[in-house]
Amino acid sequence: MAELKIFSGNSSKKLAEKVCSLLGIKMSPLEIKVFSDGEKRFRIGESVVDRDCVVFQSTCPPVDENYMELFFIIDGLKRSGAKSITLVMPYFGYQRQDHVFREGEAVSLDVVVKIVESLGVDRVISFDLHSIKIPELFNIPFAHLSALSLFAEKINKDNASLVSPDMGGIRRIKMLSEITGLPYAVIQKDRDLETGKVEAVKIEGEIHKNAFIVDDIIASGKTIVVASDLLRQNGAESVSVLATHAVLSGNAVSDLQKSSVDRVIVSDTIDTEDKSFEKLEVISIADLIAKELKK
Ligand code: R5P
Repeated sequence: MAELKIFSGNSSKKLAEKVCSLLGIKMSPLEIKVFSDGEKRFRIGESVVDRDCVVFQSTCPPVDENYMELFFIIDGLKRSGAKSITLVMPYFGYQRQDHVFREGEAVSLDVVVKIVESLGVDRVISFDLHSIKIPELFNIPFAHLSALSLFAEKINKDNASLVSPDMGGIRRIKMLSEITGLPYAVIQKDRDLETGKVEAVKIEGEIHKNAFIVDDIIASGKTIVVASDLLRQNGAESVSVLATHAVLSGNAVSDLQKSSVDRVIVSDTIDTEDKSFEKLEVISIADLIAKELKK
């Protein structure tokens, strides 16, 4: 079987390089020219005729720019005769806008699904989606992978318990509880959609001395900061965070560094090189992707 051709947009180059090296493949060249008005021109740098191609691109901030890049790369591959296109989108932007929360809103996720499919992507690989129903919105195969097994290895089980910072994370916390055998608690969280203010209202379940908050996304960091404070008030002596997607927007970096959290462990679905801080530790999902691509 001919080797895969692996390309990457700007947001996921480091992760794509890691996967290429695990697979023993050289990353395929992609020319990106930026014009003075900000528009970009993309060119696939080698022949892909009749080849199985893979495109890496996390649609993290700048979200719209990363999406546009991705769309143009897919179009370039299609026009150049690629036999198939697998989209590796480790972080899936707009996934939280999956229904109409308030009258008049757009369902951004639905728009993204339509565009990706209409461009001719054959398969999608993504990680720890906000809702397990997202793959069902696609009419193409979708591999929903998880970093939870990697996080399980980071947990010292001594006097420990898991915590979901909101009700939406119950499925995730139950899964990790099954893997680790640890008890768990769930926080009731309130977020004001107008002001963005987040409040950890109350906590139910077992809280042990060493608490591990498990979440899919850290965006503004507000969910984690208030959850950690509530855990401290309820007897936790150490608080660690395990979260797949380090969006780290707004003041998240400084807020988390000065928060009551001891350490923040994230995966590399999003490149954090320019957002590094003392409490941050990054583990890699490259091996999981390489295994999926080998299937
Ligand atoms: C929400 O339901 C998600 O699971 C995360 O808890 C949320 O997206 C985190 O956002 P932020 O860091 O802005 O509080």
